[in-house]
Amino acid sequence: MTEVEILPDGDYSFQAAKPVDLMTSYVFHGVHFPNPGLCNSGGWGYFSHPEDVYNLECRKDDVFVCSYPKNGNTWAREIVYRILVDPDVKKFDTRIQDIRCPDLQLYGPNGDTWKGHEGKPLRELESPRIFKCHYPWNCMPKEAIEKNCKIIFIARNYKDTAVSGYSMMSGFVMPDGETKVLQDDLKTMLHRWQGRRAVYGGYFFNVLSFWEQRQRENVLFMFYEEMVGDPVGAVKKICSFLERKITEEQLQKIVIETSFDKMKMDPSCNWEFLNTVGISKEAPPFMRKGKVGNWKEHFDDEMSAICDDYIEKYLQGTGLTFQYE
Ligand code: A3P
Repeated sequence: MTEVEILPDGDYSFQAAKPVDLMTSYVFHGVHFPNPGLCNSGGWGYFSHPEDVYNLECRKDDVFVCSYPKNGNTWAREIVYRILVDPDVKKFDTRIQDIRCPDLQLYGPNGDTWKGHEGKPLRELESPRIFKCHYPWNCMPKEAIEKNCKIIFIARNYKDTAVSGYSMMSGFVMPDGETKVLQDDLKTMLHRWQGRRAVYGGYFFNVLSFWEQRQRENVLFMFYEEMVGDPVGAVKKICSFLERKITEEQLQKIVIETSFDKMKMDPSCNWEFLNTVGISKEAPPFMRKGKVGNWKEHFDDEMSAICDDYIEKYLQGTGLTFQYE
């Protein structure tokens, strides 16, 4: 296990200097989290207390789709949901994905998630429950580990992650509806997200924490880049991991329905509701490019070199390598 920098647990809510720091001001198990108090009182959504997620009562057949933010979680969750529930789900179920497959960082105790999108309390959801989680391994629900629940981790290269994350964050405003959460430029963010004080342990700590668990039978470590390169192979791999058999016709249906172009048009997956819940004034499209190597359109040589240095510093000797184009 990657060495965890020891930071005291507790509520750091009012020590933050900038709005963006409030997204990382709560510490649990040495990891920084969005501040639950801020978001609850602001009526944004309901960032969970990481303690509650850690103590979640799990069922043996719960499935966890995990990733650092902007690494393809929405895509993978949709694939898992269609494999486990129904390849044709949209025929009868138009609920947003965060209700069908709750995001543990946002799902309130009574089933409330984003404003105006209420679901059931987690304990009342039918099995198999499919959860999204951004937490690093040491903060995952402890029963999920004890009960060997199936955990799929999706990893994406740091450069494309940064561009995708910057685009999304740049649309976020504070509960006052005006102040931008993100006041830094992309270059500054390249430094911010690599470190241990970044949200969910920072990109490298978070990804490596699952990479170190990849040999477990109940863990499937996948790359966003491999999903883009071979979507059919990706769906088959997830099916096999979930021990589900599907017909060739169902396979084709899932691949088509979870393609970028289809999901971009699907209001249950494309997060267009962000513009209506007060966290975003004019949210850039969530389904933005869906490509490998888009960073090249946003980085100059210096920015690429900044990333290369961090990639070497953290990944050298770990065996973890990424495709960047
Ligand atoms: P881009 O911003 O680079 O386009 P997450 O769901 O973890 O927040 O990840 C979001 C990223 O995954 C976005 O990347 C989004 O476009 C991409 N994505 C979502 N669905 C996809 C799909 N079906 N195929 C390819 N990329 C997809």
